[in-house]
Amino acid sequence: MYLLRCARKPLAMSSIRLLDDHPELAVAADFGQARVVFIESPGELFDACYELFERVFEPEVLDSKQTYLDRFEQQAKRASQSSPCLVAALVEAEGKVLVAGISSAHVLALPSAYSASIVAIANVAISKACRGKGIGALLLHATRERAKQLCAEQQRVLDCIVLESEVRSLRFWRKMGFRWPKGMFYYQPPLKWNHDGSPVHKEVRETFLIARTEVPAATHIETTKLLDIVGTLYENWSLRDIRGALSPEAVSLAEDYLRTRVSAPVVASLMTEQVELVDPLQSQESS
Ligand SMILES: CC(C)(COP(=O)(O)OP(=O)(O)OC[C@H]1O[C@@H](n2cnc3c(N)ncnc32)[C@H](O)[C@@H]1OP(=O)(O)O)[C@@H](O)C(=O)NCCC(=O)NCCS
Repeated sequence: MYLLRCARKPLAMSSIRLLDDHPELAVAADFGQARVVFIESPGELFDACYELFERVFEPEVLDSKQTYLDRFEQQAKRASQSSPCLVAALVEAEGKVLVAGISSAHVLALPSAYSASIVAIANVAISKACRGKGIGALLLHATRERAKQLCAEQQRVLDCIVLESEVRSLRFWRKMGFRWPKGMFYYQPPLKWNHDGSPVHKEVRETFLIARTEVPAATHIETTKLLDIVGTLYENWSLRDIRGALSPEAVSLAEDYLRTRVSAPVVASLMTEQVELVDPLQSQESS
């Protein structure tokens, strides 16, 4: 038995289960009392949450379990530019602690000229047994608050939250205030590379969405800034882990692939100096 840090009283857990494996308990759970827990080390909670990710996402859009384990190690040594933010939502029912949802994001520093950071949301998965009960919104709120805290510690401004949306979740992100840079074509980059510098899985077509943090929210974004944000994502999510791990030739091949196959169509889709930020559903009208 061990204790978790959480917003209210500590939660004693003897074993953690996925709510989806006990859907009969969903009626007994009080989702308004769900607790958020930041995961910063491996263990039973991380294993259960990763399993939920595996059930909800295809492998080409999910970081491997080993990548997460490596990041925990870097986080413990504070050895990375990127601060991971992995947060679970837990509920209790009939004495059991159940995982209702999990969100994975990173706080990433933009190029130094901006003196700012972004939150990049990688994956959010809510148990099928409790979708539409506010858990996704709760995890987004917790991620945003944690990111603000990390940015304040690093004396940086939190500029915006970005993500790569699948079509199935566009309406959720729209409700959460995200916008689509009008006309923007986007690929999620390959997340894993073979030893020879070829991608394990190809890039995946998704919809890039952004929520600016300033109030009132901007109606446009400069194209150079948008491309710097995309460059920051591609570097951190696709290339950073292979630098020093693969041969220089393999890294160079992976960089070429990313530039020509993945970045080039994104750049080509943004031909004006400013891009209007519009309703995410408009991305479907033009595809
Ligand atoms: C998308 C997902 C994360 C939403 O989580 P959730 O817990 O069901 O969402 P919430 O209950 O917090 O919803 C917050 C708001 O968004 C709305 N919403 C959520 N999903 C919606 C949908 N598919 N269509 C329209 N509105 C939706 C809710 O009605 C709610 O609105 P309200 O504030 O007016 O009540 C969840 O359905 C999921 O895990 N889907 C599969 C994986 C996925 O697509 N992840 C996101 C991509 S990384």
